[in-house]
Amino acid sequence: MEYYRELGIHDLYRRAVSIPTEVAEAVPAVNSETVPATMSKKLESLDLPIFSADPASDAGRLAAIDVEERPAALKAIREVIGDCIRCKLHKQGRKQIVFGVGDPNAELMFVGEAPGADEDQQGEPFVGRAGQLLNNMINAMGLRREDVYIANVIKCRPPGNRTPERDECETCSPFLMRQIDVIRPKVIVALGAVAAKNLLGLNDSMANLRGRFYDFRGTRLAVTYHPAFLLRDPRQKKEAWKDLQMVMKLMGLTAPSKPENQ
Ligand code: URA
Repeated sequence: MEYYRELGIHDLYRRAVSIPTEVAEAVPAVNSETVPATMSKKLESLDLPIFSADPASDAGRLAAIDVEERPAALKAIREVIGDCIRCKLHKQGRKQIVFGVGDPNAELMFVGEAPGADEDQQGEPFVGRAGQLLNNMINAMGLRREDVYIANVIKCRPPGNRTPERDECETCSPFLMRQIDVIRPKVIVALGAVAAKNLLGLNDSMANLRGRFYDFRGTRLAVTYHPAFLLRDPRQKKEAWKDLQMVMKLMGLTAPSKPENQ
């Protein structure tokens, strides 16, 4: 594992066994019952060779997807997820899968931890109180929510909003990786330690993780505080603003004349 981590490889996959080839070539741990029978046909007709048993080669092929094909590619990923029963969260009260929202061509992507109650209800990430604060952070950068893409490490609400467990993250994050590979944002902002840990494979304190860019899947990644944490400890908002300013500098963004620094 150490060796792979040094090579920058954080997500390793086990090839699925005893399921039909088209399905086995889809996302690892795919359960044949969860994949619509029409899916491989659909992918073929879209001419999007999205899924193979080798995510590294997927990344290269996804990177070749034309800008106009990105919405269809995201839709295809969503369809492969289906009414997912790949991990235990499907039977622990989740109402729906929260895939992601925003511009398929976004230059900036935010990755949170997992849907909460509001997100589970509405089927969209960051729509509750933390989402309101995230919207303010985005606006303070001179952008609108529609300009960016927002997703989570896992797509189902954990019961009682507990921290996602390792097996849940391992099962679900390949879908996020493919969303990232399709969108190819200039910058990803990991919101909080859970997102940072899952994306970067680093188990470090926020103090150590913040303040620098990481190379991640051909893009740059920065870490900042999760908006839910900022709601609990608003004194850290100025630190989060520093992180966002670092991102803005890289992206050539300037803040609107009166930043909503909240
Ligand atoms: N917290 C998250 O990490 N994600 C959401 O979508 C909402 C709250």
